[in-house]
Amino acid sequence: MKLNIAVLSGDGIGPEVTDQAIKVLKAIAVEFDHTFLFSSAPVGAIAIDETGNPLPDSTLDLCKKSDAVLFGSIGDPKYDNDPNAKVRPEQGLLKLRKELGLYANIRPVKAYDMLLDKSPLKKENIQGTDISIYRELTGGIYFGEKKQNEEGTWASDLCEYSKEEIERISHLAFKAAQARRSKLTLVDKANVLETSRLWRKVVKQVAESYPDVELDFLFVDNAAMQMILNPKQFDVILTENMFGDIISDEASVIGGSIGLLASASVGDKHALFEPIHGSYPQATGKGIANPVASILSAAMLLDHFELYQEAELIRKAVEKSLQLNITTPDLNPDSENITTSKVGDFIEDYINNPQDSNINFQNLHLGQSTII
Ligand code: IPM
Ligand code: MN
Repeated sequence: MKLNIAVLSGDGIGPEVTDQAIKVLKAIAVEFDHTFLFSSAPVGAIAIDETGNPLPDSTLDLCKKSDAVLFGSIGDPKYDNDPNAKVRPEQGLLKLRKELGLYANIRPVKAYDMLLDKSPLKKENIQGTDISIYRELTGGIYFGEKKQNEEGTWASDLCEYSKEEIERISHLAFKAAQARRSKLTLVDKANVLETSRLWRKVVKQVAESYPDVELDFLFVDNAAMQMILNPKQFDVILTENMFGDIISDEASVIGGSIGLLASASVGDKHALFEPIHGSYPQATGKGIANPVASILSAAMLLDHFELYQEAELIRKAVEKSLQLNITTPDLNPDSENITTSKVGDFIEDYINNPQDSNINFQNLHLGQSTII
């Protein structure tokens, strides 16, 4: 298969983790005889510095004509601490999602057996957790009208949803549930919000076409608690934009590090793949950022093009790295010498030689001497 992939690595640790995903995709291309062509373009704070615009037209054009976008991360503290900033890096990502029509953001959350001890939550509560969060991505309070009075003493963000916006992501979420454990939980705040009541009404209607899927409802405050108390109860979670943003960061605690959580953002025409973590400015350039979320986002990219075997091999390689503790300090504080790119090298190497399983495996795949 030939794929043109736009690479928007963005700010902070974005470039270093995205480099590892590219390395891994290149190894897959060789191994399975595909052609993946990568073209880079600026987005976020770096694009503001270069052009004054967090999403330059040339970047958007490149994304529109590519088959997929591989995204890094966005954000810079100099904007976070300036409430009066006229342009912000995040606007680039939000505009990109809107322009590409990426209305469904899919965030898998998994408790890996070998990482159960890394989570602050009790092992017995999280073991076996496997959740797929479907977060609506182009509507809600993120995109409603924003206002402020002239004195800067009052502000408003409007939250709006239409039936169509709810329907299209609901169909994707129900189909996903059918292919999984046939359970879908709608997370909302229908006891307070009109938009949430519309979500409930529309989702119930859509559910009639999926009688084999068990549908239940949870208020977001309760869902936040249940996510920590008993995450195993969830299969597919469907929710609006802001609740999905919050609940997915919370869910990352189950896996032991937010550096593991990948995502796919899909629409009818385009698709973008990005780790859910932010730009982690404190870690930039230190080689300590976990590249796994970016690498697993690349696996989701392959899934999107039905390259399932290829995606599976990446996941196997990632699991092998976790098993052998070849991980960055977020998961393994004693691993200063296992850098972002070392993890990428290991995963790349495993893809090139998946059959290797000798006792020197770890050294071999870290490019170290196998002579003890
Ligand atoms: C995410 C991020 C973004 C969001 C920010 C960077 C705009 O937190 O992808 O979860 O809020 O959607
Ligand atoms: Mn977020």
